[in-house]
Amino acid sequence: MLRLSIGFYNILVIKKEAKSLKVELHNYHNHKILCNYDNGAVALIDEENLPYVNELIDTGKSEIGEERLKEIGFFEQSEGRKQAYIHVTHHCNMDCVGCYSRVSNRNKENDMPLEKIIKIIDELYDNGFVDLVISGGEPMLRKDLENIVHYAKSKSMNILLITNGSIDIPDSILCDIDILSISLDNIEEEYNYLGRRIDKDMILRQFEKAKANGVLYNGIITISNQNIDKLNEYYQMSIKYEFPITFSLFYSKDENAREYLVTDEKLEELAKSNFEILPGLIEGIDPLDEICCKRDCGAASRSISVDANGNLAPCHFMHDINLGNLGEDSKDAWENLKKFKEDLDNTKSECSNCEHYFLCGRGCLARSHSSGNFGFKDPYCNFYKTYYKLLQRELFE
Ligand SMILES: C[S@@+](CC[C@H](N)C(=O)[O-])C[C@H]1O[C@@H](n2cnc3c(N)ncnc32)[C@H](O)[C@@H]1O
Ligand code: SF4
Ligand code: SF4
Repeated sequence: MLRLSIGFYNILVIKKEAKSLKVELHNYHNHKILCNYDNGAVALIDEENLPYVNELIDTGKSEIGEERLKEIGFFEQSEGRKQAYIHVTHHCNMDCVGCYSRVSNRNKENDMPLEKIIKIIDELYDNGFVDLVISGGEPMLRKDLENIVHYAKSKSMNILLITNGSIDIPDSILCDIDILSISLDNIEEEYNYLGRRIDKDMILRQFEKAKANGVLYNGIITISNQNIDKLNEYYQMSIKYEFPITFSLFYSKDENAREYLVTDEKLEELAKSNFEILPGLIEGIDPLDEICCKRDCGAASRSISVDANGNLAPCHFMHDINLGNLGEDSKDAWENLKKFKEDLDNTKSECSNCEHYFLCGRGCLARSHSSGNFGFKDPYCNFYKTYYKLLQRELFE
């Protein structure tokens, strides 16, 4: 039996056949792969171990044996961490093409008061969302950001701050955050291709200060059809200036952003370069040793979002779905979320016959939703399909 990997995802769907574990056996490229949806662990099973595995699935018990599976941590308890984005402001000092958080009242009206944000943080914490992503608009424009991060830290939440790097972050904020992410693309360009202003000195200073404060840090690069050929350039930049980078794929329904959507051909190239070259993460797909199984991307379960008005959404790319206001009618909002997730799980998906489904989890639900409904496959499917085909070749050929 070969260990593929262990990942930590908290999957909520319970498989009926397994009584106490959410384990399933999948046929993959003429091989059998055992998946534990409790923690994302996957293991390649050879013929001689099949009787044991079938027993495991029938009884759902892990005590009955197979030391090798235990050794690789197949039954380890998932930490089950859940993440929430909170958009503390709709104000911004930039105007990037296709920005998902741009709203019609941007920079025109006041933001939510601090008291409402505190209530929302309480709600998130009480419902198990202890990883808090502070975003916006530009969060550094909020004069009371220090109070917000300090309050969240007082509850021992894990805090990630995403900023555009244009404003100096005081130590009083840095000392309370765990991770600092600065959206930057190439810091050697004054403006990036999305119209983002880049202040190289300011950004590098923030990373230095983060380091001095023991805060983890990274640059976020948003990949679209316009800059997809520059991945190697970004990689060289990250080595030169000594900060890690992660990538996120651009997607927008905005008519003005059409030319930025990544074509099938480029998605294929991207998957290949991610697989073979880049150490950074794209869309949660990690290098080979971190393959894991999942039912979906985690929207409305492991990851949720609160927009700048306090409205709860299934994820930060789905602010057009309003599940209720967490700062006002929180009980309704949580109930709506639960109902929304149940409906989502019952939606028939175009992905249901795809052999990669148990690893891919049908891509990004926000993109499926953007293209019509949750039953449609992710319009960026070609990225996943290419990646998992390469994975099959790597593992089995
Ligand atoms: C909305 S911004 C808010 C925080 C801050 N103003 C900043 O720019 O980092 C957070 C991240 O979302 C990314 N983003 C915005 N719109 C996007 C889209 N349509 N597709 C993919 N990423 C997007 C931005 O590039 C940025 O890295
Ligand atoms: S800086 Fe951030 S919030 Fe502002 S427009 Fe750009 S992506 Fe959107
Ligand atoms: S998004 Fe594509 S690769 Fe992923 S499960 Fe759906 S059809 Fe398969």
